[in-house]
Amino acid sequence: MTAIVSVDRRGSDANKWRAFGPDVIPLPVADMDFAVAPDIIAAIEKRLAHPVLGYGAATDSLREALVAALAAEYGWHIQPEWLVFLPGVEPGFNMALNAFTSPGDTVMQEYPVYKPLRTAPDTWGLKTAAVWQRPSPKGGWTSEHAALEEAAVRSKLMLLCNPQNPTGRVYGRDELAFRAELCIRHDLVLVSDEIHCGLTLDGRAHVPVASLSKAIEERAITLMAASKTWNIAGLKAAFAVIADDNLRNAFMGAKKGLVDSVNVLGLAAMEAAYRNGGEWRDAVRATISENRDMLQSLVADTLPKAKMLPAEASFLGWIDLSGYALDRPAADWLLEHACIGVSSGTDFGPGLENWVRLNFACARETLAEALARMAKALKQN
Ligand SMILES: Cc1ncc(COP(=O)(O)O)c(C=O)c1O
Repeated sequence: MTAIVSVDRRGSDANKWRAFGPDVIPLPVADMDFAVAPDIIAAIEKRLAHPVLGYGAATDSLREALVAALAAEYGWHIQPEWLVFLPGVEPGFNMALNAFTSPGDTVMQEYPVYKPLRTAPDTWGLKTAAVWQRPSPKGGWTSEHAALEEAAVRSKLMLLCNPQNPTGRVYGRDELAFRAELCIRHDLVLVSDEIHCGLTLDGRAHVPVASLSKAIEERAITLMAASKTWNIAGLKAAFAVIADDNLRNAFMGAKKGLVDSVNVLGLAAMEAAYRNGGEWRDAVRATISENRDMLQSLVADTLPKAKMLPAEASFLGWIDLSGYALDRPAADWLLEHACIGVSSGTDFGPGLENWVRLNFACARETLAEALARMAKALKQN
């Protein structure tokens, strides 16, 4: 049985642990406080045994590993030459906006959403058609079809985030088919950020939207990485899958002068993750699903005015604290009164001052202590 080992990151270079003073429990930034899989460390050490660390590129072996992994995981049959390697998913969606839109165009996406996705259209002088996700009476999150249709009519490109950050929503096949059909009917390029796809929980399947049909595949840019699943985000390596030659060439054109080659240690780690990381990934999914359940029951038992839907993937809790009378954004209030650091709802969309995003991929004792501090502070309100 593979063990998932929690690590004390205090005093390290970790953004999360450097963000606040020593008394604060830090739960922002989407990486995990868990040690990397031994197979991945071994692959990095093996690469380091070669004494030159000059410029490098993805090998045929890495391309084959990714082709095989996407076929085995999702039944998605891609060609090795469809892969474009990138130092991150964030550069990938920015390159796509640069390549496929002109200033003044409109881009559609579903709110609330990860801040760099939410703000990327603005970076490129674009407007956003935002469609708000709402809790569904059937459980989970939903977005109105009429609102999606209305946004698609005036958009040039759709940005999709699946699994979704911050809601943890995993889009089902029908929901994806509806969005794919909108892109085809209204001639939109589809950019699908699937960076969290390796961490679906409770046996849910991830469906790469581009795998649904040839028609959507040829207008899609799919962005993936080993970074979230295997906790190697600091190695800066990701990839895009782009089937259509013209789309791929235009995307590559947007790299010029801005996005360089990928870190060679990141490429070695990526190959090890997709070739040998299956067991560790299963173990980490079990750990984060236990933490998710623990968080869910602590919120239900100790924060009676809080609302939270269970994450369907990944390790982010999206919590509504609007039942409490807080005199400032909830994240600021919690930092001052509970000594915990979380991401502010305002990062994910306007009007979300009373929401916070809490990263639960940490030691269980840390999570328990953070929730105890929250419950104690919020009891007064
Ligand atoms: C949805 C989503 N996309 C992209 C990123 C960032 O990816 P990268 O570090 O590969 O640029 C994150 C990190 O939190 C994320 O949650």
